[in-house]
Parts: sequence; C-alpha cells; structure tokens
Amino acid sequence: MNILGVESSCDETAAAVVSGARRPALVSSVVSSQVAIHAPFGGVVPELASRSHIRFITEVMAEALKKARLKPENIDRVAATAGPGLMGSLLVGLTAARTFAWLFRKPFVPVNHTEAHIMAAFLEKPALKLPLLALVASGGHTELIYMKKHGSYRILGRTRDDAAGEAYDKVAKLLKLGYPGGPALERLARRSRSPVRLPVARMKDGSLDFSFSGLKTAVAQSTVTDRAALAAGFQQAVIAALIGRAREALALTRARTLVLAGGVAANLGLRNAFGELGRQVRVSLVVPRIGLCTDNAAMIACAAWFNPSARRGMRVPADSGWQAGRAIGAG
Ligand code: KG4
Ligand code: ZN
Repeated sequence: MNILGVESSCDETAAAVVSGARRPALVSSVVSSQVAIHAPFGGVVPELASRSHIRFITEVMAEALKKARLKPENIDRVAATAGPGLMGSLLVGLTAARTFAWLFRKPFVPVNHTEAHIMAAFLEKPALKLPLLALVASGGHTELIYMKKHGSYRILGRTRDDAAGEAYDKVAKLLKLGYPGGPALERLARRSRSPVRLPVARMKDGSLDFSFSGLKTAVAQSTVTDRAALAAGFQQAVIAALIGRAREALALTRARTLVLAGGVAANLGLRNAFGELGRQVRVSLVVPRIGLCTDNAAMIACAAWFNPSARRGMRVPADSGWQAGRAIGAG
C-alpha cells in the first residue's frame, strides 16, 4: 500500500509517501516553505500563498515520488487536504492531487487537516492505543479532541477567539518579532528569567474551551518594556491554559493516551510541560517530531492510510470546516 499525500492549506507546499501493509510508515516527505515570500509582509498573504503553491506543487509531488523511488503507477491511493484552510491554497493541492488520481486511475481521498494533525502521532508511534485525547494547537485551531476510534471524534473544547498559534503570531507582531512569530517568540522568551505575570483565561461556565484574545490585549496594554519578560510571560500563560484544560479533559475521559499535535506543538516549552503532565498523571504521551507537528503531507497520507475505502470518492466537500470531515463533529 503506497499513498501519496498532498498538503497546501496554508503556507507550506508539501507532498509525501506513506506505505505499509499493517502499519503506516513514512517513506518520503517534502515540504517547501513559503516563509521567505510572506516575511516582508509580516504574515501570510493568501494570494501570494496560492500563487506559490501553483508554482511548486508538481515539483514537490514529483520529488516525494522520487525520494520514495516510486512511479505514479506504484501509488495505490492519492490524498489531499480538503479543509480547513485558505480556499485558494487548498484548491491548488486538491486540483493537483485529483488530476493525478484521474490520470493514473487511482482512488482519491479528501482529508480533514485537523484530523491529519492527530494522525501524525500514528506515524510517530504506530502502535498507539485508543481511545486517546488529542490537543491540536495550530495557527488556525486549538481543539481538545477525544478520539474513540479511527473516524470517531468528539470535540471537548475549542478556542472561542484566537487559536494558540494565532495568538503567538499576533503577540510576536506586537513585540516586533516578525513572521513566523511562534518560533521567534519562543527564542525571545528563553532569554528571560523573570516572566511577567499575565492572566490565564478560565471559562465561567466550566467548559473546556480556550480564550487567548485577552492575553494578547494584556501584552498590548502592558507597561513593561522588557520584551523578553513579556514573551516569557505570554508563553507561560499559554502553556498554563493548554496544560490546565488537557489535565481536566484527561480526568473527564479517563483516556490513557495523550497526543499533542499541530504547529504549536513544535514549541519546546510546551513539549516539556506536556512531558511533565504525562509523568504526573501517568498517561502515555505521544508528541510527533517537530517536522510532523508543523504542516506536512505525511500526516495527510497517514490519514488516508486509515481510511481504506476512500468511500468519499471524488466528492470534495464545499464546506471546509470540521463538518467537511468524515465523522468529525462536535457532539
Ligand atoms: O500546524 P501549522 O504548521 O499550520 C496550521 O495548520 O495553522 O501551525 C502553524 C502555527 C503558527 O501560528 C506558528 O506560529 C505556530 O504554529 N508555531 C509555533 C512554533 N512553531 C510554529 N508556536 C509556538 N512555538 C513554536 N516553536
Ligand atoms: Zn496545520
């Protein structure tokens, strides 16, 4: 079983091959970053993102096949991110992957990007035990998801305003750190030994939802001039919020496996804090290696590995939200 995955939902043009008869195994993964294109603008410019995807998508797909030493004929299934993401960007990867599928008469699988972030954990540890609790923290999403089995998900909590990565990016901008904000802010935070105390939002109704916009405002309105202390305080507050809700969700679901995924999971402070939580409450923690946390196509191919029938065929959902996925939904 050889699966070609394609990802183009935001600012990464990616293709990968995942193979394996009994377990998914990563064979090749190519990621072409658009950082240099968006950096002068301080954030992702959707139109430029789509144009860059168009320019590189076929090369990236060909490179993934070449690295896997496979020909298009050897591919059994083609998958691409159908959403959520920037519509213009999504269309490029979807069209390229569907054209490949049509040309070589292969089944096509549209994949939900957030579900795929969780799937990255199965590439890291194929023998992962279910049910599991996953925290997906990325530029577009912050969600606590209970995964009972493949294709069955329940969203326990989600952000009510900014996503965690979005908050990182906005605060990085406030601190004049440029784009991409997350890694830059993390580096700056490391330089401070006296983090500013910033508020960690709690939901009045006791839900497991998140809110990060107040934290961003607190940074904007702070009179502290030490930027590293602000960055460290911000990071501490984000980690406290994520850890706090994950701990509550673990108690609620009694899940024995915890997955931390999405671009923000590349943050070393967060990885360490989850490591500590895992030891404290004795759950098996899986955090994919950094290259599988930030956007990549290996996770897309892996999601299609677990969706063997490609039962959605060529149908690509018009709505690119969670509802676009197979059985994903709140409830
Ligand atoms: O999953 P991802 O690559 O793309 C989306 O699906 O959104 O996540 C990108 C997000 C960005 O907001 C970026 O700032 C954040 O992940 N990020 C980080 C770090 N590396 C990437 N946030 C905090 N610390 C990092 N080291
Ligand atoms: Zn992502």
